[in-house]
Amino acid sequence: MVQRVATVAFEGVEARPVDVQVQVAPGLPAFNLVGLADKAVTEAKERVRAALIASGLALPAKRITVNLAPADLPKEGSHYDLPIALGLMAAIGALPADALDGFTVIGELALDGRIAAVAGVLPAAIGANARGHGLICPAACGAEAAWASPDMPVLAPSSLMQLANHFAGRQALARPDPRLAPDGAALPDLADVKGQESARRALEIAAAGGHNLLFVGPPGAGKSMLAQRLPSILPPLSPAELLEVSMVASVAGALQGGALTSRRPFRAPHHSASMAAMVGGGMRARPGEVSLAHNGVLFLDELPEFQPAVLDSLRQPLETGEAVIARANHRITYPARFQLVAAMNPCRCGQAGQPGHSCRRGPRCAADYQARLSGPFLDRIDLHLEVPAVSAADLVRPAPAESSREVAARVAQAREIQRERFAAFGRPDLSINAQAGGPLLEDIATPDEAGAALLADAARVMRLSARGFHRVLRVARTLADLAGAESVGRAHLAEALAYRSSEDRLASAA
Ligand SMILES: Nc1ncnc2c1ncn2[C@@H]1O[C@H](COP(=O)(O)OP(=O)(O)OP(=O)(O)O)[C@@H](O)[C@H]1O
Ligand SMILES: [Mg+2]
Repeated sequence: MVQRVATVAFEGVEARPVDVQVQVAPGLPAFNLVGLADKAVTEAKERVRAALIASGLALPAKRITVNLAPADLPKEGSHYDLPIALGLMAAIGALPADALDGFTVIGELALDGRIAAVAGVLPAAIGANARGHGLICPAACGAEAAWASPDMPVLAPSSLMQLANHFAGRQALARPDPRLAPDGAALPDLADVKGQESARRALEIAAAGGHNLLFVGPPGAGKSMLAQRLPSILPPLSPAELLEVSMVASVAGALQGGALTSRRPFRAPHHSASMAAMVGGGMRARPGEVSLAHNGVLFLDELPEFQPAVLDSLRQPLETGEAVIARANHRITYPARFQLVAAMNPCRCGQAGQPGHSCRRGPRCAADYQARLSGPFLDRIDLHLEVPAVSAADLVRPAPAESSREVAARVAQAREIQRERFAAFGRPDLSINAQAGGPLLEDIATPDEAGAALLADAARVMRLSARGFHRVLRVARTLADLAGAESVGRAHLAEALAYRSSEDRLASAA
């Protein structure tokens, strides 16, 4: 007789159903595992055997065959231990034969029969719920599974014995409660930043419209400091965004204690990061930094120090909002709609363009350093800003700076206006101006008469490219939203034109 247990395989953040079939048949004692399993899955045999023995159950001296179906879907990870063990227990009569009907099972086994935490419990629970199943998962992940639906059954045992006792009616397992992570330490606040009014303004615009932002300036000007304060002015995640973010975190095994958080992700990978670390992939498919920053901020400090190939690999996720990883026999897609914030020095010595500074290497210093960034990559950054060193007056006797709370209130208001406008234009899937493409943008950001005249002049004199033209419109729309203005005016366009990249400016001066 064949015992069947439902489990899942992960493709991106999707949980695909997998059927574990266990057969115990007469013959020479053997334990075979088939069905396109990777190394961690084939090792399940040893863990299952040891965990069953530790739980007082010996494997019968028969021929045991375990098949993971469908056989053409690659199976990765250690979460197949528990379904295999439970299938075997049911096959040898240690569990009632129908106990596992209507359950999807995932979990890793320790040699002593305990059930260890695994990644991906949230998507597995959501997938199980969609099929009308309950979920059996490790105790450490119960809180995460409980988020999928308030009325789906969730069993979160800490050991095989606990689960056997539950099904035998000796000790019932309670349903775990969903948990939100405590807010933890307060985020760094904008009030700490002295001076730097224009950089603060750019940060506010970036937060309001979701624009990508680049700070260029000498060392110690406060670029990293400013960028780290962006999360404190962003609105909290909406329930739908929270679910998307948590799915990625769950698949990456990054949900601490199964608790979800409504804070926007802020990822700041070191510049030595490899392409696999950045966009995902590697030996076992895992989401990269771009996906862990989904619906949040990806901060690249010291931008030109990143490998050029790694930076260029960001172009596709920046454009499409997803990271596609091609493996030998299949493709995996992770969501990756993030806001890019980058900081860099203008040259290697860091002082190029500073008044009173002359570099020993001359203009080549800045040119060589900046040449590490490709034009198309820079083109995807809406706001370019030069951050000068903090002035002595600001350092010694700073004017009182606004706190993050006040700025966050203006940002939230501007975002509300954008959401309503996108809904009115029949695009409720969009929420921030940065996501608006060409035709839609020209509809929502039509300048008034004076604005149109300025834009026409600017396009001619500055030789704006089509993409540059749209970039100006997009930023100007956000500026108008921050000001609560209905239409995009001359002042908004003039300010937006100031946030063009230095290359643009050089090109138009030439
Ligand atoms: N505007 C500022 N207001 C208050 N403190 C500042 C300011 N700018 C810099 N500092 C102080 O200087 C330190 C260094 O700043 P930060 O790391 O942000 O500089 P940076 O511009 O990123 O420099 P680098 O180019 O070397 O990375 C901060 O930790 C902070 O203590
Ligand atoms: Mg820095």
